[in-house]
Amino acid sequence: MAIISKKLVPDVALIDPVITTTMNSNMTVYTGFDILSHSIEAYVSNASSPITDVHSIEAIKLFSSNILPCIKDPKNPKFRGNLMLASLHAGLVFSNASLGLVNAMAHSLGGLMDLPHGGCNALLLEHVVNFNYSSDPARYLKISQCIEVVDSTDKYGLINAISQLKIKTGVTQTLKEIGVRENDIPQLAQKTMNDPCTITNPVIPKKSDVEEIFKNAL
Ligand SMILES: [Fe+2]
Repeated sequence: MAIISKKLVPDVALIDPVITTTMNSNMTVYTGFDILSHSIEAYVSNASSPITDVHSIEAIKLFSSNILPCIKDPKNPKFRGNLMLASLHAGLVFSNASLGLVNAMAHSLGGLMDLPHGGCNALLLEHVVNFNYSSDPARYLKISQCIEVVDSTDKYGLINAISQLKIKTGVTQTLKEIGVRENDIPQLAQKTMNDPCTITNPVIPKKSDVEEIFKNAL
């Protein structure tokens, strides 16, 4: 469940990567996929702009080139600093361009199953890319170039690259394996439809579309 209000926006934020060097590997991966989800979703959001695009692209590049080195060398301040900078870029961008279905679905999934938000994003990301891709293939191609997709630059190349990144970072579960049942899906989909992030998804979904995406991730 997300709590969203202008009153929650801080006056000052201290961005210090040293405090993240003791984060465990799981939390590093989960918060990392939150960065990736924020930056991809804000880049394809129907509220994006040339200014937010700059931050989205930088966040995707920094995340992609630093997440695996950071997991291997978690105390390294350079990798931690680059990931935290990616998180800052992604935070700036979603505060201005908002998000989309990955985060909307992850809010209801995390609320129902009491799971870390970024982990929920990781389970859903490629399924939402699959749903949204045709809305703006040129934007998704740019994303593919930023995360250095090598095998192909079409939709399946990007989906495969995200899947590979999940495998390399140890995110191998499905929704079923974390306890989601098929009869949970209508409730999850309804909460997603009511989530503010759904409004800026590049494709305005029907409830049945959201149910289908959850089923694909089961
Ligand atoms: Fe998020």
